[in-house]
Amino acid sequence: MKAIVCTRYGGPDVLRLAEVATPVPADNEVLLRVRAASVNALDWRLMRGKPLIARFIAGGMRRPAHAGVGRDVAGEVVSVGTGVTRFAPGDAVFGACIGAFAEYACAKVDRLVPKPAHVSFESAAAVPVAGTTALQALRDSGRIKAGQRILIDGASGGVGTFTLQIAKALGANVTAVCSPANVDAAHAMGADRVIDYTREDFLQDGQRYDLVVGANAHRSIFDYRRALREAGIYVMAGGGGSQILQGLLLAPLLSLAGRRKLRFVGAKLGLGDLHVLQGMLAEGKIVPVIERRYALHEAADAVRHVEAGHARGKAVIVMP
Ligand SMILES: NC(=O)c1ccc[n+]([C@@H]2O[C@H](COP(=O)([O-])OP(=O)(O)OC[C@H]3O[C@@H](n4cnc5c(N)ncnc54)[C@H](OP(=O)(O)O)[C@@H]3O)[C@@H](O)[C@H]2O)c1
Repeated sequence: MKAIVCTRYGGPDVLRLAEVATPVPADNEVLLRVRAASVNALDWRLMRGKPLIARFIAGGMRRPAHAGVGRDVAGEVVSVGTGVTRFAPGDAVFGACIGAFAEYACAKVDRLVPKPAHVSFESAAAVPVAGTTALQALRDSGRIKAGQRILIDGASGGVGTFTLQIAKALGANVTAVCSPANVDAAHAMGADRVIDYTREDFLQDGQRYDLVVGANAHRSIFDYRRALREAGIYVMAGGGGSQILQGLLLAPLLSLAGRRKLRFVGAKLGLGDLHVLQGMLAEGKIVPVIERRYALHEAADAVRHVEAGHARGKAVIVMP
């Protein structure tokens, strides 16, 4: 089969289309014919092996332990491991695996759910990592409640577009921060107010929020803290290196003083939340935003585009 492989750390040029053996599912896995896969920031971080922790996740200090690239997947079950009872050949599913940028991939059954029949493979493939991050940021870290005022910074990217839509589905009043090119799209997704960060500073209008989500944080943690009401919560999902360091190191310390809480969300992929997202997809509460579609041999371009930092929604690799 054809697959994208990454056998050394570096820029997108280290991603190669290669002919490799079709994987064989373990007892608790299924073999999927991949129909679509989506790109996450995690993919380019693992490809580069930066920051250093990415090399631990990739399983090797000098080179990745597993050459497969891509986590988010949607496809059809081809065969199942001996311990698998939840799925049978022919089932359409989506979820996460290692090595989604390939014609075939093995995925653990506890990382897969059935794809709603009326949802396309490419839409389903857009959901797992970004959708789980958004859901856990709002519900678990942010303790979102209907009627709350929420600010989302980085609202137009992969995590941000799901955060915006899930926050609206949960009854929040949402202010989205994005560039001018994405203002209309943010309104179309239901944002009550959109701030174009090239013209307006969300700290200058006097508005304060119950919950601020740094889907892709670009400001200092102190700025996000200032945007909170008394007893408000700031949740950081991702952003630049210094923002991530601040989120990991300063958030717990700053939360000790006063009633404002600051948290870093580390998304945990699991069956429970994949089922929640499957339900939201089926009901149309989330409609994945797909900016661009790529063929498998264009995977490096897809990763390059996402790494550039201005993808609108998700970039998806679609198989014929
Ligand atoms: N903690 C976790 O478990 C977890 C899980 C998944 C992802 N992440 C992290 O979350 C972050 C976001 O992921 P993603 O998939 O959403 O990334 P992404 O799709 O690459 O985000 C791109 C978006 O960021 C926006 N952006 C760029 N500069 C901005 C600025 N100055 N102000 C506001 N928005 C700006 C862009 O909007 P404009 O083009 O409109 O500027 C673009 O739509 C990444 O750092 C990723 O590593 C963390």
